[in-house]
Amino acid sequence: VGVLDGWPDTPVLATERLELEPLRVEHAEEAAPLFDDERLHAFIGGRPATVDELRSRYARQVLGHSAGGCERWFNWIVRQRGIGAAVGAVQATVVSQRNGAAADVAWVIASSYQRHGYAREASAAMVAWLRDHGASVITAHIHPDHKASIAVARALGLTRTDVKVRGEVRWLADNHAAGPASQP
Ligand SMILES: CC(C)(COP(=O)(O)OP(=O)(O)OC[C@H]1O[C@@H](n2cnc3c(N)ncnc32)[C@H](O)[C@@H]1OP(=O)(O)O)[C@@H](O)C(=O)NCCC(=O)NCCS
Repeated sequence: VGVLDGWPDTPVLATERLELEPLRVEHAEEAAPLFDDERLHAFIGGRPATVDELRSRYARQVLGHSAGGCERWFNWIVRQRGIGAAVGAVQATVVSQRNGAAADVAWVIASSYQRHGYAREASAAMVAWLRDHGASVITAHIHPDHKASIAVARALGLTRTDVKVRGEVRWLADNHAAGPASQP
């Protein structure tokens, strides 16, 4: 029995201003126009996806795990609470590790909703949930010039590492790295 078997399905998460709703294939209709914006790709590469592309991507993602079962996938659409407008999305890929689990996280907020602290607020809720379920290592991969994403990573308590993956810098918080608290 792998460590990942203990993980539940993606839950609804709520913050002060936001609701994180587990991704569904139907969200593609709403997400395609929201994310149809070249600016969102300035640092992550690629281009905006069509509704059909998003629908097939979401259909793969909602399976919740990789083909071999080594990874668990958690995806959320981020909404303004009460108002209900979709403003972005957050995701986590969880793999099992020697002493627990490691989660790689990412976030996107539509341009018209940026600079309201939504990325910080949504990612913090996601990371808290991941930690509660045993993710002792949190990573994010960020373009070295992407100030907004770097600020989000810092707010989550991640620190920059020297590791680069496809031009992106790995940011990391490792609860095991600190080791046991020292005795007085
Ligand atoms: C990165 C992104 C999600 C930030 O979303 P956001 O909701 O605007 O972020 P927040 O409002 O929570 O702001 C977080 C921090 O970034 C800063 N920030 C936001 N936009 C910024 C900008 N254009 N330039 C510099 N700093 C910026 C904020 O001031 C804040 O800093 P603080 O915590 O020191 O106050 C958004 O820019 C985005 O979706 N970009 C495109 C997709 C992407 O590249 N995702 C990253 C993949 S890891």
